[in-house]
Amino acid sequence: MVHLSSIATALAAGLLPQLANAAGLNTAATAKGLDYFGTATDNPELTDNTYMTQLKNTDDFGQLTPGNSMKWDATEPSQNSFSFEKGDAIADLAEANGQKLRCHNLVWYQQLPSWVSGGSWTNETLTEALKNHITKVVTHYKGKCYAWDVVNEALNDDGSYRENVFYQHIGEAYIPIAFEAAAAADSDAKLYYNDYSIEYGGDKANAAEKIVKLVQSYGAKIDGVGLQGHFTVGQTPSKKDLASTLKSYTALGVEVAYTEMDVRMETPSSSDKLSQQSTDYASLVGACAETEGCVGITIWDWTDKYSWVPDTFSGYGDACPWDENYKKKQAYNGILNALGGSSSARKSRKMRRNMITRGN
Ligand SMILES: *[C@@H]1O[C@H](CO)[C@@H](O)[C@H](O)[C@H]1NC(C)=O
Repeated sequence: MVHLSSIATALAAGLLPQLANAAGLNTAATAKGLDYFGTATDNPELTDNTYMTQLKNTDDFGQLTPGNSMKWDATEPSQNSFSFEKGDAIADLAEANGQKLRCHNLVWYQQLPSWVSGGSWTNETLTEALKNHITKVVTHYKGKCYAWDVVNEALNDDGSYRENVFYQHIGEAYIPIAFEAAAAADSDAKLYYNDYSIEYGGDKANAAEKIVKLVQSYGAKIDGVGLQGHFTVGQTPSKKDLASTLKSYTALGVEVAYTEMDVRMETPSSSDKLSQQSTDYASLVGACAETEGCVGITIWDWTDKYSWVPDTFSGYGDACPWDENYKKKQAYNGILNALGGSSSARKSRKMRRNMITRGN
């Protein structure tokens, strides 16, 4: 039998490096009390073997989000004709790996098939089409989704409602109606409102709080607010400000999660930018880790190779914790530190606790 004192001595001397290095992002997140650290992925990437090896690494990723294949244009390309193969591929992957699945998304103004966005609707006919879409998709994935992003990006940056097809014909009631339909189809999935630029105070964050209250006022179930967390190097709020905004949502009785985190920079990168990026990731991750009711963090893909950023923000990129050659960037360690994962003090605390539990 190994003596406790000799292990403690070895730990103190840093003689167990393989143990200290074993904790990846998800391992550290769950040790810190979060439910998961995860990543978005997308179907075209699933044929890349190097990518797949890391995607399946549950030490880093305990959760997956399908980037595109559960959206309306993918799941109901023509009215009442459903197609689930691509969404299933990612749901099956998560299940096979033992990873949680955040399902994304049910109602959004983008990636809508033209039969929805260009249809001639009345309040009644569009409400029926909306409910039918939600009922069929949520029922198909029933039991597989830890969470659903039920309504995505309903707000303009000034906090007013986007004049999307749903708002035009149904008014703000489309939001609670969507949550009611999702809850009826899968009462176990956590139902989220998801948006960006609601991570810090201001008109849009206030409007997101109003959406939570609106859904609650209809007597419908809403479980969470998803804060996308798309930021730019050097323009990411402080951990304190981020945490204070997270608390403004949890005060309403819902959980929160960062659902699409990345921190982009103007390319080319530099060591200064990579260092600031690490600090910015740490602010975001640290805010979640210290906020009761923040359940998890999802990055919007883990490698720069498959990041959406360069195609969307001209001149920007390098937004992920791994570079395009799958090498960990400084940001990886920034995240790990913010989760308490790389400190040997933390590991030894955990080991001590385990030994005490075992009654050594
Ligand atoms: C559409 O109908 C719903 C009831 O299903 C109602 O709550 C909502 O206010 C109506 N919207 C408009 C714009 O009349």
